Amino acid sequence: MKNAPNNPFLLLGYHRRKYFCNRNDEIKWLEDNLQNGRNSVLFSLRRLGKTAMIQCVLKELERSGKAEVIFVDLLATQTTEDAILQIARAVVQRYGKASSGAGTAFMKMLGKVGFDISIDPMTGLPSLSMGLRQGPSPAHSLESLGAFLAARKMPVVIAMDEFQQVCTFEKENAEAIFRTWAQQFAQIHFIFSGSHRQMMMSMFAEKNRPFYRSAQLKELQPIPLDEYRTFITRHFKAAKKKIDGEVVDEIYRWSRGQTYCVQLLCNRLYGSFEHANTEALNRVKQEVLQQENNVFINYFNLFTSTQWNVLRAIAKEEPLVNPLSKEVLLRHQLGAASTVASALKQLQNKEFVVQLGDEFLVHDVVFARWLRHRG
Ligand SMILES: Nc1ncnc2c1ncn2[C@@H]1O[C@H](COP(=O)(O)OP(=O)(O)O)[C@@H](O)[C@H]1O
Ligand SMILES: [Mg+2]
Repeated sequence: MKNAPNNPFLLLGYHRRKYFCNRNDEIKWLEDNLQNGRNSVLFSLRRLGKTAMIQCVLKELERSGKAEVIFVDLLATQTTEDAILQIARAVVQRYGKASSGAGTAFMKMLGKVGFDISIDPMTGLPSLSMGLRQGPSPAHSLESLGAFLAARKMPVVIAMDEFQQVCTFEKENAEAIFRTWAQQFAQIHFIFSGSHRQMMMSMFAEKNRPFYRSAQLKELQPIPLDEYRTFITRHFKAAKKKIDGEVVDEIYRWSRGQTYCVQLLCNRLYGSFEHANTEALNRVKQEVLQQENNVFINYFNLFTSTQWNVLRAIAKEEPLVNPLSKEVLLRHQLGAASTVASALKQLQNKEFVVQLGDEFLVHDVVFARWLRHRG
């Protein structure tokens, strides 16, 4: 088998369908939108599989020869200029090679709209930075990139991951700039995705926002246990390994159904055991907590003592309901309701805590287990 990984439970990105558990309906939804010229918004809690699923769809689309695809990760961007630079980089990565047929005209265009281009001597590939000189406005640079893409013979699909970053940019018109851009070119289709549920929903579903009703929204849910069970057992069987039914249940429960965490536990069980029983799983859980220990210890300076107490209370109760009720405040000795309310708000803003309906959760599953474990 070409390129077969040693361990079928992958922890990074998308490889191919064999190692990808289901998501058939969601993939079909995304492909359907693309085929019919509808833009899509995919959001969910972190590490449920948005990026991997988008990469799956993009890969198959590119291979089918029906469209050219571009993937942009906006996670580390802080200004409109950063974001445009990221987009330009992704475009260069796709078309910058001489063999892509876009060639020098494209490079010239980039220079004209404010990018400095140099050829990396190690790789021979072009690399981009934003020119220091007073260049054209961000909107203008975007427009030129769009015009280039719209002139391709094939439809172009651009996926913008962690798109909620755009609403944190200080110059308040970033959303409007991107909205105008996304509207300008009928030949370019967009996928927007993000892990900040509230920000993504507000951006696309609030009346006074530029992106209001401009795309189809979907919240990605955890992969159902039954589907995951089939996937997990199949891969263990294929290697003549054994995994107990109740171990699969416990993996899913401990992981809160979070794809990354399920993959992580399965990866370790598969890697170290011929028979994954409860004892093996307990060892793997300990290892995972131990491994992350240093990361979490470093959080100590990050939070106030009230914030720590709130985090611990949420992790212990999982989920915590009514955090400001007298009963909860007393049970966890949290102190005054107003102090707890502001600690909670800050934890939510930083995405350490998420609220689903009336339930509060520690966003990072392993961190939640660690908090509970340490008491
Ligand atoms: N359907 C799936 N089957 C198997 N592994 C998956 C699946 N979806 C995601 N993963 C794995 O789960 C992890 C988290 O997925 P990712 O796409 O990064 O989540 P998100 O973008 O929602 O934060 C990655 O390691 C990825 O390889
Ligand atoms: Mg992602």
